[in-house]
Amino acid sequence: MTSPITTHRDGNVLVIVSNNPPVNALGAAVRQGLEAAVKQGVEDDSIHAMVIRCDGRTFFAGADITEFGKPMQEPALPTLVDMIEAADKPVIAAIHGTALGGGCEVALGCHYRIAVSSAKLGFPEVKLGLLPGAGGTQRAPRLAGVALALEMCAKGDPIPAKKALDAGLIDTLAGEDSLEADAIKFARDCLHKPLPRASQKTAKPDPEAVEAFKKANARRFRGFDAPAANIACVVKATEVPYEEGVQFERAEFMKLMMGVQSAAQRHIFFAERKAQKIDGIADDIKLRDVKKVGVIGAGTMGGGISMNFLSAGIPVTIVEMQQEALDRGTGVIRKNYEATAAKGRIKPEQVESAMGLLTPTLKLDDLADCDLIIEAVYENMDVKKDIFTKLDALAKPGAILASNTSYLDINEIASVTKRPEDVLGMHFFSPANVMKLLEVVRGDKTADDVLATVMALAKKIRKVAVVAGVCHGFIGNRMLMPRQVEAMKLLMEGATPEQIDKVHVDFGMPMGPFQMSDLAGVDIGWHRDPTRIESIRDALAAEKRWGQKTKAGFYDYDDKRNPSPSPRVAEIIEDFRKKTGTPQHEVTTEEIVERTLYPMVNEGALILAEGKAQRASDIDVVWIYGYGWPVYRGGPMFWADTEGLKKIVGGLEKHDFKVAPLLREKADKGERFTS
Ligand code: 3HC
Repeated sequence: MTSPITTHRDGNVLVIVSNNPPVNALGAAVRQGLEAAVKQGVEDDSIHAMVIRCDGRTFFAGADITEFGKPMQEPALPTLVDMIEAADKPVIAAIHGTALGGGCEVALGCHYRIAVSSAKLGFPEVKLGLLPGAGGTQRAPRLAGVALALEMCAKGDPIPAKKALDAGLIDTLAGEDSLEADAIKFARDCLHKPLPRASQKTAKPDPEAVEAFKKANARRFRGFDAPAANIACVVKATEVPYEEGVQFERAEFMKLMMGVQSAAQRHIFFAERKAQKIDGIADDIKLRDVKKVGVIGAGTMGGGISMNFLSAGIPVTIVEMQQEALDRGTGVIRKNYEATAAKGRIKPEQVESAMGLLTPTLKLDDLADCDLIIEAVYENMDVKKDIFTKLDALAKPGAILASNTSYLDINEIASVTKRPEDVLGMHFFSPANVMKLLEVVRGDKTADDVLATVMALAKKIRKVAVVAGVCHGFIGNRMLMPRQVEAMKLLMEGATPEQIDKVHVDFGMPMGPFQMSDLAGVDIGWHRDPTRIESIRDALAAEKRWGQKTKAGFYDYDDKRNPSPSPRVAEIIEDFRKKTGTPQHEVTTEEIVERTLYPMVNEGALILAEGKAQRASDIDVVWIYGYGWPVYRGGPMFWADTEGLKKIVGGLEKHDFKVAPLLREKADKGERFTS
């Protein structure tokens, strides 16, 4: 097998080049090739300096994650990085693309770093539940100080080359098209200078920065193991010599690597990428051109959906029925952009360029030249059918017609058109300009190229897309239903909303079932007759306890929307318990988990068996990106695997649930849902 590492000479400089597509991950062959090349450079007296660079789209983007959990082949990355640093001739990292994780560590092990200005450097390991395990936590604070090292290691967001230059992580910038030549020239300039080695520098303690960082990120880090370990390693770098620090780093790295959280986060890394792949459709299928998008409805959903396309530079025509609603909708879009600009996340001119791509109109006919039309009106089959009948008459041939329905039957909607092959669901999650998930609902007749086009478009608008089949609530909301139903039953049997919500928040969810109801609106789906009170929900709705928007729902809210337990709700619940004569018992945390989370796994198994999700990992992606399931638990199906499917079946049976046949079969055979 040919090595991914090649070398060539430019006079007395040895250029070491990696070519390991797609991202130059530092797998065994790359590490072995690098080791041999650096050795060659060190041993050859006619070589005076070395440059390490990569071909393709990026510098090394990290260790090869697919090797994790398998027996490690020599040389290990920490050994290789130390060997590079120990070389007695200047070694220069020439960086383009993203120097990430182990890639960044290789760069910091080099004596000098030169980068094109579009390059980024970072330690995303924490997002995989890990820490930089090849000296990164020890070299970064020595080069750039504790504050930046904490930001990079414990938060995991990459920094641009210019910032890295200012911080001392890189030494100079190179021309975008002359990286190798500039690196060679830089190498020659370094000859005869003492070799700077990051490991030999001192990292100054900065306890104030550490405390401030911990405080500022306490919420973000809640439940995760890896950020604290990253922080501990960076602090260690300020306390002990490098040799001792890397030993500490190694031990912490191995602890995380063996833990469930990292396994879960690595599962999600690959699950997210796998979700883009559509079984049975070739990767190279010809896609339709989507240059102009139409959105019907300028409400919260329509506005949020439009923003995704505007932000990606795609013109949007947005339609409403009344001028006032149209003005309100476009006003909200502008306000959202302006708020983002005020926070410094986009430039003021980007607000105008996005708004400049928006065409508001009251005429449906103005959508005639759109390549994709997304209907985002309220959930009513008759209304949707009426809109699709009109769209069928006016849309240009080949236009993709999508519904943003969150529950309704896409096949039924498609059936009113003469082109059901062009129809599918695009279920955005609220707020649609923020939430990452997009469920792409494949109707029975949806054409392959329509599905593939929308999946590719999703990536362009920076969504994580998952293909779902037609069923009530698709993947996410279908699994939400049994959870909400059981939560209500538990209230009747003796639990409080606060107790149930707390179990979910302690589990790692951003909010519990009742906090979610209050946010979404207790009145959603309400029959609107205050005299008809058949459930706790009806009683709340009748009293205008519609949730956060009326400052009262399952909780009472103050002016800043801070919730507190509601004595009135307690009365209503008590009243219902008495009226229905529901037997009461003490509800435990265990029971709440078994009755609200296990049924979700059960529903997931049904969805899988019915082919409404392509794979178990897609279900996990839906719940991570659409509902805030804690990523360190890997999504409901991965979590079920880690709990043990036998235990899940046992819990379901204990509470008289009908166990999904696929779940039972897997439990009996000792199998898992996820690999
Ligand atoms: N190992 C193995 N495969 C990797 C990989 C890695 N580090 N990084 C990316 N890939 C694979 C992806 O799975 C994907 O495979 P597929 O085509 O079969 O689905 C392919 O490379 C392309 O990846 P993306 O689709 O993500 O491509 P993008 O261009 O969108 O993004 C990227 C490129 C920014 C480099 C992104 O892939 C990324 O963030 N990668 C992970 C980087 C990372 O986490 N590095 C740290 C690894 S841990 C480590 O280094 C430990 C060390 O400290 C000891």
